[in-house]
Amino acid sequence: MNILAFESSCDETAAAVVRADGDKLNVLSSIVASQIDIHRLYGGVVPEIAGRAHIEAISSITYEALETAHIAKEDVDLVAVTAHPGLIGALLVAVNFAKAFAFANHIPLVAVDHIQGHIAAAYLSDTPPKPPFLAMALSGGHTAIYLAKSYTDYEIIGTTRDDAIGESYDKIGRLMDIPYPAGAGFDRLATEGFQRATGREEDFYRAYKKTDAYRDRSMTLPSPALSDGTLDFSFSGLKTATINLLHRHEQTGTPIDHALLAARYTYEATEAVAKKIAMAMDAHPALPLVVAGGVAANSHLRRRLTEVAKAHGVPLHIPSLSLCGDNAAMIAAQGYYEYLAGHLSDTSLNASAADGIV
Ligand code: KG4
Ligand code: ZN
Repeated sequence: MNILAFESSCDETAAAVVRADGDKLNVLSSIVASQIDIHRLYGGVVPEIAGRAHIEAISSITYEALETAHIAKEDVDLVAVTAHPGLIGALLVAVNFAKAFAFANHIPLVAVDHIQGHIAAAYLSDTPPKPPFLAMALSGGHTAIYLAKSYTDYEIIGTTRDDAIGESYDKIGRLMDIPYPAGAGFDRLATEGFQRATGREEDFYRAYKKTDAYRDRSMTLPSPALSDGTLDFSFSGLKTATINLLHRHEQTGTPIDHALLAARYTYEATEAVAKKIAMAMDAHPALPLVVAGGVAANSHLRRRLTEVAKAHGVPLHIPSLSLCGDNAAMIAAQGYYEYLAGHLSDTSLNASAADGIV
């Protein structure tokens, strides 16, 4: 079965063709037209500009996805599209395009949740996980832990009560003059900080806790892991404390080492995720773990979660770097399982800005 999928929930317009053969999913093409250069001028995504840029890109990237996959329109068996959550004006572009494509070519249509899509990126590997599993979504807008009971039935078991992890990286990164989106630059800056704090080129993360930089009280930051026995997070406290620290240094004219601060921030964020993941694993023993979303590209987090999964003796599935950020191949993967579950949409399909999984 050939699946043509579309994604336009935020600042990437994406189209992909994935071929499904049982549970073996093959990416034949995955085209992502990024708008980052446009939004960078404003330090974040401008929804109206995103919507217009999606309209300009979607038709040509669809042809590019079909051509790259060597697939004709007539050979498409299923159309999948992200219908929620996201920026409404952005989502509507791919939803309407997908509806028109499916209706005009008499092809079945399925709606996909963006977060389930991120997690479904794990199905595109050579060793795809099978439900039930634990899944953690770490993106610009989401920080949540799910119990995936089946490919389409998710229960939320932990979430942020305020900011998302990616959003917090972007906001602090902006104050440190890291270009939007700050995640990847922040990752590199934190590596520099860890290396400087420990004097080690590698294996610095574990050694960091014993350094003077970690003991430096002037850089103490609160943990985003709520200590109330739940699997919930609060990233706004960490963000606000960091902003206040940066402002205090600016006001007193005392420079602060951005690399050491990025390391400290990364350590707190990563340890919080590791702690809640370990708690979720204790509560649901022996389930594999899938970690997905843009922030799953973070090198420190990838290494730390590899350790946590190993200590619990469970397999860890993190998509390859190119499939962590927004793309349409992941939407095709989830779309396939929505189709198998009989969740078909029609021309009445609408986009929704709100969460749709649970
Ligand atoms: O999943 P995604 O591409 O879009 C949303 O659905 O939100 O996630 C984007 C987020 C941004 O906040 C970006 O800064 C963050 O992922 N990100 C990272 C890294 N690469 C991207 N955060 C931390 N470390 C990274 N290496
Ligand atoms: Zn995303």
